[in-house]
Amino acid sequence: MMMKWVLRKKAMLIIGLVHLLSLLQFSLFTNAILDPHDFLALQSIRNALEDMPGSDFFSTWDFTAEPCDFAGVYCDGDRVIALNLGDPRAGSPGLTGRLDPAIGKLSALAEFTVVPGRIIGALPETLSQLNNLRFLAVSRNFISGGIPASLGQLRALRTLDLSYNQLNGSIPQSVAGLPALSNVILGHNRLSGSVPTFASQTLTRLDLKHNALSGSLSPTSLPPSLQYLSLSWNQLTGPVDRLLTRLNQLNYLDLSLNRFTGNIPGDLFTFPISNLQLQRNSFYGPIQPVDQVTITTVDLSYNRLSGQISPMFSSVQNLYLNNNRFSGHVPGSLVDRLLAASIQILYLQHNFLTGIEIDPTAEIPVSSSLCLQYNCMVPPVQTPCPLKAGKEKTRPTGQCIEWKG
Ligand SMILES: *[C@@H]1O[C@H](CO)[C@@H](O)[C@H](O)[C@H]1NC(C)=O
Repeated sequence: MMMKWVLRKKAMLIIGLVHLLSLLQFSLFTNAILDPHDFLALQSIRNALEDMPGSDFFSTWDFTAEPCDFAGVYCDGDRVIALNLGDPRAGSPGLTGRLDPAIGKLSALAEFTVVPGRIIGALPETLSQLNNLRFLAVSRNFISGGIPASLGQLRALRTLDLSYNQLNGSIPQSVAGLPALSNVILGHNRLSGSVPTFASQTLTRLDLKHNALSGSLSPTSLPPSLQYLSLSWNQLTGPVDRLLTRLNQLNYLDLSLNRFTGNIPGDLFTFPISNLQLQRNSFYGPIQPVDQVTITTVDLSYNRLSGQISPMFSSVQNLYLNNNRFSGHVPGSLVDRLLAASIQILYLQHNFLTGIEIDPTAEIPVSSSLCLQYNCMVPPVQTPCPLKAGKEKTRPTGQCIEWKG
């Protein structure tokens, strides 16, 4: 009798405790008992990944507790709205494993990021089910395969950063056509094919550098909202003058290391650009800025540009015009600005220039570099040139006569 009573008392105590705990839980997470679909999806995502040695991101991921409290998991009510996988502190070794297709079940997800690490495998097609996704950033991992064309269903997507992976194939037109894109960063992959037409009129940053993109760009393939454009290190061809004339909001432009041809439009130099990198292409013709150029760095080296050097370039700080076909005299205003140390780099080597007005005893400020080597004149001043300029001070006369003729 006594024994039974004690047991019953104990049982009641336990039931009471459980009841109290659930009440407590109810009051602490009023509406944050995670949706079971999201709970299962997080478990699958977790099981496909591991911390790299030295990372302990998943130490808080104990599925007997409330997942909304896990590191990198952010909920709104009973749904996961943001998932930031990996320890975001600089130098964290990141995660290894794969991205599980269950990610597509987190249907309220607005933001998905993964820190740099060693994640392999493909981007799950199921990402395309995330109707609310606005921010997708999985850069500096080892993601391979193509960019799924089905990502073109992510109508809310604003930022897409898949840079520094091993993605191949082409950039799907469906993705480029997304209406809300503002930042697209796909640089340092193995993407091939042509640059598709980007439709978003709010696209401000497009970075496709270091890929294997080829073909030419249509004059209307990029929107005038662009402020940052890098297409450097690809195999792109054809003219870009009509395209560039429209992109008058640009403040950074890097088209270097391609095979672009045609003219560089004079209006480009009136855009609010701080850094203009057009080197190592096949641009030709004269360059005629319509006004004083206030861009800090202008690199037009290694092209086929010709004609006289415009005095409008005298307000540039770093001016690379070397390895072109410029001829005539170097404008006096450039020399003045160089001697006043407001031009810091003036590289004119490997052209067909015939003269420069500079006092042979003039002191070139220590902070400034002038290189005149391999032109159609004997440099009146001895200045250190970059090693690549070679040792020959003057272009062979034969070439110069031929040029003048
Ligand atoms: C992309 O790379 C994979 C290997 O990772 C290869 O099987 C596939 O053929 C490549 N696709 C393209 C379009 O190059």
